[in-house]
Amino acid sequence: MPASQPSSALHLLLLFLAAVASTQLSPAASKSTLEACSSSTSCPSLLSYTLYTDLKLAELAALFSADPLDILAANAIDFGVPDPANRILPAGLPLRVPVPCAFSDGIRKATSARYVSRPGDTLAAVAASVYGGLTTADWIRDSNGILDAGADALDAGTRLFVPLHCACFGGVDSGVPAVFLTYPVADGDTVPAIAQRHRTTANDLMNVNNMATADVAAGDIIVVPLPACASAFPSYTSDVGLTVANGTYAITANRCVQCSCGPGNMDLFCVPAPLADSTCSSMQCSNSSMMLGNFTLMMTSAGCSVTSCSYGGYVNGTIITTLTTSLKPRCPGPHEFPPLMPPPTTSFFETYLGPSPSPMASEGGIGPQMAGMAPTSSPPAASSGPPPLDQHVGHILALLVLCLVTNLAW
Ligand SMILES: *[C@@H]1O[C@H](CO)[C@@H](O)[C@H](O)[C@H]1NC(C)=O
Ligand SMILES: *[C@@H]1O[C@H](CO)[C@@H](O)[C@H](O)[C@H]1NC(C)=O
Ligand SMILES: *[C@@H]1O[C@H](CO)[C@@H](O)[C@H](O)[C@H]1NC(C)=O
Ligand SMILES: *[C@@H]1O[C@H](CO)[C@@H](O)[C@H](O)[C@H]1NC(C)=O
Repeated sequence: MPASQPSSALHLLLLFLAAVASTQLSPAASKSTLEACSSSTSCPSLLSYTLYTDLKLAELAALFSADPLDILAANAIDFGVPDPANRILPAGLPLRVPVPCAFSDGIRKATSARYVSRPGDTLAAVAASVYGGLTTADWIRDSNGILDAGADALDAGTRLFVPLHCACFGGVDSGVPAVFLTYPVADGDTVPAIAQRHRTTANDLMNVNNMATADVAAGDIIVVPLPACASAFPSYTSDVGLTVANGTYAITANRCVQCSCGPGNMDLFCVPAPLADSTCSSMQCSNSSMMLGNFTLMMTSAGCSVTSCSYGGYVNGTIITTLTTSLKPRCPGPHEFPPLMPPPTTSFFETYLGPSPSPMASEGGIGPQMAGMAPTSSPPAASSGPPPLDQHVGHILALLVLCLVTNLAW
Protein backbone atom coordinates (compact mmCIF):
# COMPACT_ATOMS: atom_id res chain seq x y z
CA MET A 1 0.00 0.00 0.00
CA PRO A 2 1.36 3.40 -0.90
CA ALA A 3 2.48 5.32 2.12
CA SER A 4 1.14 8.52 0.72
CA GLN A 5 -2.37 7.33 1.46
CA PRO A 6 -3.67 8.77 4.69
CA SER A 7 -3.71 6.00 7.26
CA SER A 8 -5.62 5.61 10.44
CA ALA A 9 -3.71 5.19 13.66
CA LEU A 10 -4.79 1.57 13.80
CA HIS A 11 -3.55 0.99 10.31
CA LEU A 12 -0.18 2.37 11.25
CA LEU A 13 -0.09 0.32 14.39
CA LEU A 14 -0.64 -2.79 12.28
CA LEU A 15 2.13 -1.77 9.92
CA PHE A 16 4.32 -1.18 12.89
CA LEU A 17 3.59 -4.58 14.36
CA ALA A 18 4.30 -6.17 11.01
CA ALA A 19 7.61 -4.36 10.94
CA VAL A 20 8.35 -5.56 14.44
CA ALA A 21 7.56 -9.13 13.50
CA SER A 22 9.83 -8.95 10.50
CA THR A 23 12.78 -7.92 12.64
CA GLN A 24 12.52 -11.26 14.46
CA LEU A 25 12.86 -9.61 17.80
CA SER A 26 11.30 -11.08 20.86
CA PRO A 27 8.16 -9.11 21.71
CA ALA A 28 9.59 -8.42 25.16
CA ALA A 29 12.15 -6.11 23.58
CA SER A 30 9.60 -3.87 21.96
CA LYS A 31 8.85 -0.52 23.52
CA SER A 32 5.96 1.69 22.76
CA THR A 33 4.58 4.88 24.15
CA LEU A 34 1.18 6.27 23.46
CA GLU A 35 1.25 9.99 23.16
CA ALA A 36 -2.05 11.57 23.88
CA CYS A 37 -2.28 14.76 21.91
CA SER A 38 -4.72 17.54 22.34
CA SER A 39 -3.94 19.16 19.03
CA SER A 40 -2.37 18.47 15.70
CA THR A 41 -0.03 21.45 15.83
CA SER A 42 3.63 20.65 15.51
CA CYS A 43 6.13 21.40 18.24
CA PRO A 44 9.87 22.01 18.34
CA SER A 45 11.77 18.79 19.00
CA LEU A 46 15.36 17.61 19.00
CA LEU A 47 17.03 14.55 17.51
CA SER A 48 20.13 13.05 19.07
CA TYR A 49 22.43 12.48 16.14
CA THR A 50 26.07 11.46 15.78
CA LEU A 51 27.83 12.40 12.55
CA TYR A 52 28.51 9.21 10.57
CA THR A 53 31.19 10.96 8.53
CA ASP A 54 32.78 14.38 8.25
CA LEU A 55 30.08 16.69 6.97
CA LYS A 56 29.81 20.33 6.14
CA LEU A 57 27.27 21.97 8.38
CA ALA A 58 25.26 22.79 5.25
CA GLU A 59 25.22 19.10 4.25
CA LEU A 60 24.10 18.06 7.70
CA ALA A 61 21.38 20.71 7.64
CA ALA A 62 20.23 19.48 4.22
CA LEU A 63 19.76 15.92 5.53
CA PHE A 64 17.19 17.22 7.99
CA SER A 65 15.97 20.30 6.05
CA ALA A 66 17.10 22.29 9.07
CA ASP A 67 18.61 25.77 9.16
CA PRO A 68 22.39 25.50 9.70
CA LEU A 69 22.27 28.31 12.25
CA ASP A 70 19.51 26.57 14.17
CA ILE A 71 21.67 23.48 14.48
CA LEU A 72 24.55 25.51 15.91
CA ALA A 73 22.26 27.43 18.24
CA ALA A 74 20.59 24.26 19.54
CA ASN A 75 24.03 22.95 20.49
CA ALA A 76 25.26 26.21 22.03
CA ILE A 77 27.91 26.44 19.31
CA ASP A 78 28.79 29.97 18.28
CA PHE A 79 26.46 30.88 15.41
CA GLY A 80 28.01 34.29 14.91
CA VAL A 81 31.19 32.93 13.29
CA PRO A 82 31.88 33.83 9.65
CA ASP A 83 30.56 31.43 7.01
CA PRO A 84 29.14 28.87 9.44
CA ALA A 85 27.47 26.68 6.79
CA ASN A 86 30.81 25.76 5.24
CA ARG A 87 32.37 24.61 8.50
CA ILE A 88 33.25 20.94 8.43
CA LEU A 89 31.98 19.00 11.40
CA PRO A 90 33.91 15.86 12.34
CA ALA A 91 32.63 12.28 12.18
CA GLY A 92 31.60 11.01 15.59
CA LEU A 93 30.43 14.41 16.80
CA PRO A 94 27.28 14.08 18.88
CA LEU A 95 24.78 16.83 18.10
CA ARG A 96 21.19 17.75 18.66
CA VAL A 97 19.29 18.52 15.48
CA PRO A 98 16.22 20.73 15.90
CA VAL A 99 13.26 19.68 13.74
CA PRO A 100 9.56 20.43 13.88
CA CYS A 101 7.64 17.43 15.20
CA ALA A 102 4.47 17.15 13.20
CA PHE A 103 1.30 15.13 13.49
CA SER A 104 0.84 13.03 10.39
CA ASP A 105 -0.91 9.78 9.48
CA GLY A 106 -2.00 9.39 13.08
CA ILE A 107 1.39 9.62 14.74
CA ARG A 108 3.96 12.17 15.70
CA LYS A 109 6.88 12.28 13.33
CA ALA A 110 9.41 14.67 11.90
CA THR A 111 8.50 14.96 8.26
CA SER A 112 11.19 17.32 7.05
CA ALA A 113 13.99 14.91 6.14
CA ARG A 114 14.70 14.14 2.48
CA TYR A 115 17.52 12.03 1.15
CA VAL A 116 18.83 11.57 -2.38
CA SER A 117 20.56 8.20 -2.52
CA ARG A 118 24.13 7.77 -3.70
CA PRO A 119 25.70 4.83 -5.51
CA GLY A 120 25.84 1.77 -3.26
CA ASP A 121 23.32 3.07 -0.71
CA THR A 122 21.05 0.62 1.01
CA LEU A 123 17.92 1.44 2.97
CA ALA A 124 19.47 -0.22 6.00
CA ALA A 125 22.53 2.02 5.85
CA VAL A 126 20.49 5.15 5.23
CA ALA A 127 18.37 4.42 8.31
CA ALA A 128 21.09 3.19 10.64
CA SER A 129 24.05 5.25 9.55
CA VAL A 130 23.12 8.37 7.58
CA TYR A 131 20.13 9.00 9.87
CA GLY A 132 21.80 7.50 12.92
CA GLY A 133 19.07 5.02 13.83
CA LEU A 134 16.39 7.72 14.10
CA THR A 135 14.29 5.76 11.61
CA THR A 136 14.18 2.24 10.20
CA ALA A 137 14.55 0.73 6.75
CA ASP A 138 11.01 -0.63 7.06
CA TRP A 139 9.59 2.75 7.90
CA ILE A 140 11.37 4.43 4.99
CA ARG A 141 10.20 1.65 2.65
CA ASP A 142 6.64 2.05 3.82
CA SER A 143 6.70 5.84 3.68
CA ASN A 144 7.92 5.81 0.10
CA GLY A 145 5.55 3.19 -1.21
CA ILE A 146 8.35 0.69 -1.84
CA LEU A 147 6.29 -2.47 -2.07
CA ASP A 148 9.04 -5.05 -2.08
CA ALA A 149 9.48 -5.76 1.63
CA GLY A 150 12.92 -7.19 0.99
CA ALA A 151 14.13 -4.24 -1.06
CA ASP A 152 17.30 -2.79 0.37
CA ALA A 153 19.63 -1.63 -2.41
CA LEU A 154 18.78 1.80 -3.78
CA ASP A 155 19.36 3.20 -7.23
CA ALA A 156 21.56 6.25 -7.09
CA GLY A 157 19.51 9.40 -7.27
CA THR A 158 16.41 7.94 -5.64
CA ARG A 159 14.64 10.67 -3.71
CA LEU A 160 13.43 9.44 -0.38
CA PHE A 161 11.16 10.89 2.23
CA VAL A 162 12.70 9.90 5.55
CA PRO A 163 10.28 9.80 8.50
CA LEU A 164 11.93 10.30 11.88
CA HIS A 165 10.69 9.69 15.38
CA CYS A 166 9.92 12.64 17.60
CA ALA A 167 7.60 13.57 20.42
CA CYS A 168 5.82 16.63 21.78
CA PHE A 169 3.91 15.53 24.88
CA GLY A 170 2.45 19.00 25.08
CA GLY A 171 5.86 20.56 25.68
CA VAL A 172 5.63 19.68 29.36
CA ASP A 173 7.35 17.11 31.57
CA SER A 174 6.47 16.77 35.24
CA GLY A 175 4.64 20.07 35.08
CA VAL A 176 7.52 22.15 33.71
CA PRO A 177 8.28 23.18 30.12
CA ALA A 178 10.32 20.61 28.24
CA VAL A 179 11.66 19.80 24.81
CA PHE A 180 11.83 16.14 23.88
CA LEU A 181 15.01 14.67 22.44
CA THR A 182 14.66 11.52 20.34
CA TYR A 183 17.46 9.22 21.39
CA PRO A 184 18.42 6.02 19.53
CA VAL A 185 19.81 3.66 22.14
CA ALA A 186 23.42 2.64 21.45
CA ASP A 187 25.38 -0.43 22.48
CA GLY A 188 26.21 -0.35 26.15
CA ASP A 189 23.60 2.28 27.03
CA THR A 190 21.62 1.86 30.21
CA VAL A 191 18.63 3.86 31.37
CA PRO A 192 20.49 5.38 34.35
CA ALA A 193 23.43 6.34 32.12
CA ILE A 194 21.19 7.94 29.49
CA ALA A 195 19.34 9.78 32.24
CA GLN A 196 22.53 11.01 33.86
CA ARG A 197 24.01 12.19 30.59
CA HIS A 198 20.90 14.25 29.92
CA ARG A 199 20.53 15.49 33.48
CA THR A 200 17.28 13.74 34.14
CA THR A 201 16.39 10.73 36.27
CA ALA A 202 15.86 7.11 35.34
CA ASN A 203 12.37 7.35 36.82
CA ASP A 204 11.49 10.30 34.64
CA LEU A 205 12.80 8.52 31.53
CA MET A 206 10.80 5.43 32.35
CA ASN A 207 7.65 7.46 32.95
CA VAL A 208 7.97 9.45 29.75
CA ASN A 209 8.59 6.31 27.71
CA ASN A 210 6.01 4.28 29.56
CA MET A 211 8.59 1.63 30.37
CA ALA A 212 7.75 -1.04 32.91
CA THR A 213 11.38 -1.93 33.51
CA ALA A 214 14.64 -0.06 33.02
CA ASP A 215 15.67 -2.23 30.10
CA VAL A 216 16.76 -0.79 26.80
CA ALA A 217 18.47 -2.48 23.88
CA ALA A 218 20.63 -1.03 21.16
CA GLY A 219 18.31 0.13 18.40
CA ASP A 220 15.42 1.08 20.64
CA ILE A 221 14.35 4.67 20.22
CA ILE A 222 13.37 6.52 23.34
CA VAL A 223 12.60 10.15 24.08
CA VAL A 224 14.43 12.17 26.69
CA PRO A 225 12.77 15.21 28.29
CA LEU A 226 15.01 18.27 28.52
CA PRO A 227 14.08 21.21 30.74
CA ALA A 228 13.33 24.19 28.55
CA CYS A 229 12.14 27.78 28.39
CA ALA A 230 8.74 28.17 26.77
CA SER A 231 7.40 31.16 24.87
CA ALA A 232 3.91 32.57 25.05
CA PHE A 233 3.62 34.01 21.56
CA PRO A 234 0.11 34.45 20.15
CA SER A 235 -1.16 31.76 17.80
CA TYR A 236 -0.94 34.02 14.73
CA THR A 237 2.85 34.31 15.06
CA SER A 238 4.95 32.10 12.82
CA ASP A 239 7.14 31.01 15.72
CA VAL A 240 4.30 30.17 18.07
CA GLY A 241 5.32 27.47 20.53
CA LEU A 242 9.03 28.32 20.39
CA THR A 243 10.70 26.37 23.17
CA VAL A 244 14.44 26.36 23.88
CA ALA A 245 16.27 23.71 25.89
CA ASN A 246 18.23 24.86 28.93
CA GLY A 247 21.73 26.04 28.09
CA THR A 248 21.00 26.54 24.39
CA TYR A 249 19.79 29.05 21.85
CA ALA A 250 17.31 29.31 18.98
CA ILE A 251 17.31 31.65 16.01
CA THR A 252 13.98 33.02 14.93
CA ALA A 253 12.24 35.89 13.10
CA ASN A 254 14.06 35.21 9.84
CA ARG A 255 17.42 35.13 11.64
CA CYS A 256 16.84 38.54 13.20
CA VAL A 257 16.27 37.39 16.77
CA GLN A 258 18.10 34.94 19.02
CA CYS A 259 16.44 33.47 22.08
CA SER A 260 18.24 31.60 24.83
CA CYS A 261 17.40 29.59 27.89
CA GLY A 262 19.22 29.51 31.20
CA PRO A 263 21.54 29.14 32.90
CA GLY A 264 20.30 31.32 35.76
CA ASN A 265 16.55 31.11 35.26
CA MET A 266 14.13 29.42 32.91
CA ASP A 267 12.72 32.55 31.30
CA LEU A 268 13.14 32.72 27.54
CA PHE A 269 15.43 35.66 26.81
CA CYS A 270 15.51 37.17 23.33
CA VAL A 271 17.82 39.79 21.86
CA PRO A 272 18.79 40.89 18.34
CA ALA A 273 20.74 38.07 16.63
CA PRO A 274 24.32 38.61 15.46
CA LEU A 275 23.19 38.48 11.83
CA ALA A 276 20.40 41.00 12.34
CA ASP A 277 20.72 43.73 9.73
CA SER A 278 18.70 46.47 8.13
CA THR A 279 16.30 43.95 6.58
CA CYS A 280 15.04 43.12 10.07
CA SER A 281 12.03 45.05 11.29
CA SER A 282 12.47 47.34 14.27
CA MET A 283 13.42 45.66 17.52
CA GLN A 284 12.72 48.73 19.59
CA CYS A 285 9.83 48.66 21.99
CA SER A 286 7.28 51.23 20.94
CA ASN A 287 7.09 54.37 22.98
CA SER A 288 10.42 53.60 24.55
CA SER A 289 14.08 53.79 23.77
CA MET A 290 14.57 50.17 24.76
CA MET A 291 15.58 47.41 22.38
CA LEU A 292 14.76 43.68 22.66
CA GLY A 293 16.48 42.33 25.76
CA ASN A 294 17.00 45.73 27.41
CA PHE A 295 15.62 46.25 30.87
CA THR A 296 15.64 49.00 33.44
CA LEU A 297 15.56 48.67 37.19
CA MET A 298 14.03 51.02 39.71
CA MET A 299 14.06 50.55 43.46
CA THR A 300 10.72 51.32 45.04
CA SER A 301 9.51 50.87 48.58
CA ALA A 302 7.76 47.68 47.45
CA GLY A 303 10.80 46.14 45.78
CA CYS A 304 12.53 46.33 42.44
CA SER A 305 10.46 47.47 39.50
CA VAL A 306 11.80 45.80 36.36
CA THR A 307 10.74 47.19 32.99
CA SER A 308 11.82 45.02 30.10
CA CYS A 309 11.49 45.06 26.35
CA SER A 310 10.81 41.49 25.29
CA TYR A 311 10.12 39.54 22.14
CA GLY A 312 6.52 38.57 21.39
CA GLY A 313 6.79 36.56 18.18
CA TYR A 314 7.12 37.08 14.44
CA VAL A 315 4.18 38.09 12.26
CA ASN A 316 4.43 38.65 8.54
CA GLY A 317 7.96 39.98 8.69
CA THR A 318 7.28 42.10 11.74
CA ILE A 319 8.97 41.54 15.08
CA ILE A 320 6.50 42.00 17.91
CA THR A 321 7.98 43.72 20.95
CA THR A 322 6.30 44.12 24.30
CA LEU A 323 7.19 46.41 27.15
CA THR A 324 6.32 44.92 30.51
CA THR A 325 6.89 46.06 34.07
CA SER A 326 7.01 43.68 36.98
CA LEU A 327 7.87 43.94 40.63
CA LYS A 328 10.63 41.69 41.98
CA PRO A 329 11.75 41.38 45.59
CA ARG A 330 15.35 42.02 44.52
CA CYS A 331 16.87 43.65 41.50
CA PRO A 332 18.38 41.11 39.09
CA GLY A 333 22.00 41.48 38.00
CA PRO A 334 23.03 41.70 34.37
CA HIS A 335 21.60 38.92 32.23
CA GLU A 336 23.82 35.86 32.05
CA PHE A 337 23.85 34.02 28.71
CA PRO A 338 24.49 30.29 28.24
CA PRO A 339 28.15 29.87 27.24
CA LEU A 340 28.80 29.36 23.52
CA MET A 341 31.56 27.13 22.15
CA PRO A 342 33.52 27.67 18.96
CA PRO A 343 32.53 25.27 16.14
CA PRO A 344 34.13 21.92 17.03
CA THR A 345 36.88 20.52 14.84
CA THR A 346 37.25 17.22 16.66
CA SER A 347 34.58 15.02 18.12
CA PHE A 348 36.14 15.40 21.56
CA PHE A 349 34.59 18.64 22.54
CA GLU A 350 33.23 20.17 25.64
CA THR A 351 29.53 20.40 25.27
CA TYR A 352 27.42 22.45 27.61
CA LEU A 353 26.66 19.07 29.15
CA GLY A 354 30.31 18.51 29.97
CA PRO A 355 33.02 16.70 28.06
CA SER A 356 31.81 14.42 25.31
CA PRO A 357 31.57 10.87 26.58
CA SER A 358 34.02 8.09 25.87
CA PRO A 359 33.67 6.26 22.55
CA MET A 360 31.72 3.40 24.10
CA ALA A 361 29.15 5.68 25.58
CA SER A 362 29.01 8.26 22.82
CA GLU A 363 25.60 9.09 21.46
CA GLY A 364 25.03 6.93 18.43
CA GLY A 365 27.98 4.69 19.13
CA ILE A 366 30.49 5.93 16.59
CA GLY A 367 33.70 6.46 18.45
CA PRO A 368 35.80 9.54 17.90
CA GLN A 369 38.55 7.25 16.68
CA MET A 370 36.52 6.97 13.50
CA ALA A 371 37.14 10.62 12.78
CA GLY A 372 39.14 11.02 9.62
CA MET A 373 38.80 7.38 8.67
CA ALA A 374 35.49 7.81 6.99
CA PRO A 375 35.53 9.32 3.53
CA THR A 376 33.75 12.62 3.40
CA SER A 377 32.02 12.09 0.11
CA SER A 378 30.50 8.66 0.28
CA PRO A 379 27.85 7.73 2.82
CA PRO A 380 27.64 4.04 1.87
CA ALA A 381 31.36 3.53 2.24
CA ALA A 382 31.29 5.34 5.53
CA SER A 383 28.41 3.24 6.72
CA SER A 384 30.55 0.14 6.47
CA GLY A 385 32.89 1.74 8.96
CA PRO A 386 31.28 1.17 12.33
CA PRO A 387 30.13 -2.46 12.37
CA PRO A 388 27.95 -2.14 15.46
CA LEU A 389 25.56 0.12 13.61
CA ASP A 390 25.11 -2.28 10.74
CA GLN A 391 24.41 -5.11 13.11
CA HIS A 392 21.61 -3.09 14.60
CA VAL A 393 19.81 -2.66 11.38
CA GLY A 394 17.54 -5.63 11.87
CA HIS A 395 17.00 -4.75 15.48
CA ILE A 396 15.87 -1.22 15.19
CA LEU A 397 12.66 -1.07 17.00
CA ALA A 398 10.91 2.17 16.91
CA LEU A 399 9.12 3.47 19.85
CA LEU A 400 5.63 3.96 18.65
CA VAL A 401 4.34 7.35 19.45
CA LEU A 402 0.68 7.08 18.74
CA CYS A 403 -1.49 10.08 18.84
CA LEU A 404 -4.92 9.19 20.03
CA VAL A 405 -6.73 12.23 18.82
CA THR A 406 -10.16 10.82 18.89
CA ASN A 407 -10.13 9.62 22.47
CA LEU A 408 -9.03 12.87 23.93
CA ALA A 409 -11.10 15.58 25.35
CA TRP A 410 -8.66 17.98 26.96
C1 LIG B 1 19.97 24.77 33.48
O1 LIG B 1 21.35 24.65 33.23
C2 LIG B 1 22.16 25.21 34.25
C3 LIG B 1 23.58 25.17 33.78
O2 LIG B 1 23.91 23.96 33.25
C4 LIG B 1 21.95 24.45 35.52
O3 LIG B 1 22.74 24.99 36.56
C5 LIG B 1 20.47 24.55 35.91
O4 LIG B 1 20.22 23.77 37.05
C6 LIG B 1 19.60 24.05 34.77
N1 LIG B 1 18.22 24.30 35.08
C7 LIG B 1 17.30 23.35 35.02
C8 LIG B 1 15.92 23.76 35.37
O5 LIG B 1 17.55 22.23 34.66
C1 LIG C 1 4.07 56.70 25.94
O1 LIG C 1 4.75 56.97 27.15
C2 LIG C 1 4.28 58.11 27.84
C3 LIG C 1 5.16 58.36 29.04
O2 LIG C 1 5.63 57.16 29.58
C4 LIG C 1 2.82 57.90 28.23
O3 LIG C 1 2.32 59.04 28.89
C5 LIG C 1 2.00 57.63 26.97
O4 LIG C 1 0.66 57.31 27.34
C6 LIG C 1 2.61 56.47 26.20
N1 LIG C 1 1.90 56.33 24.94
C7 LIG C 1 1.49 55.14 24.50
C8 LIG C 1 0.80 55.16 23.17
O5 LIG C 1 1.66 54.11 25.12
C1 LIG D 1 19.94 47.30 24.58
O1 LIG D 1 19.93 46.24 23.64
C2 LIG D 1 20.82 46.44 22.56
C3 LIG D 1 20.59 45.30 21.59
O2 LIG D 1 20.78 44.07 22.21
C4 LIG D 1 22.25 46.46 23.06
O3 LIG D 1 23.14 46.67 21.99
C5 LIG D 1 22.38 47.59 24.10
O4 LIG D 1 23.66 47.55 24.66
C6 LIG D 1 21.33 47.46 25.17
N1 LIG D 1 21.39 48.62 26.02
C7 LIG D 1 21.41 48.54 27.34
C8 LIG D 1 21.45 49.82 28.08
O5 LIG D 1 21.43 47.47 27.91
C1 LIG E 1 0.09 38.91 6.51
O1 LIG E 1 0.05 39.76 5.37
C2 LIG E 1 -0.91 39.41 4.41
C3 LIG E 1 -0.75 40.31 3.21
O2 LIG E 1 -0.34 41.58 3.60
C4 LIG E 1 -2.29 39.48 5.05
O3 LIG E 1 -3.26 39.08 4.11
C5 LIG E 1 -2.35 38.58 6.26
O4 LIG E 1 -3.59 38.71 6.91
C6 LIG E 1 -1.25 38.91 7.23
N1 LIG E 1 -1.25 37.92 8.29
C7 LIG E 1 -1.23 38.27 9.56
C8 LIG E 1 -1.23 37.17 10.56
O5 LIG E 1 -1.20 39.44 9.94
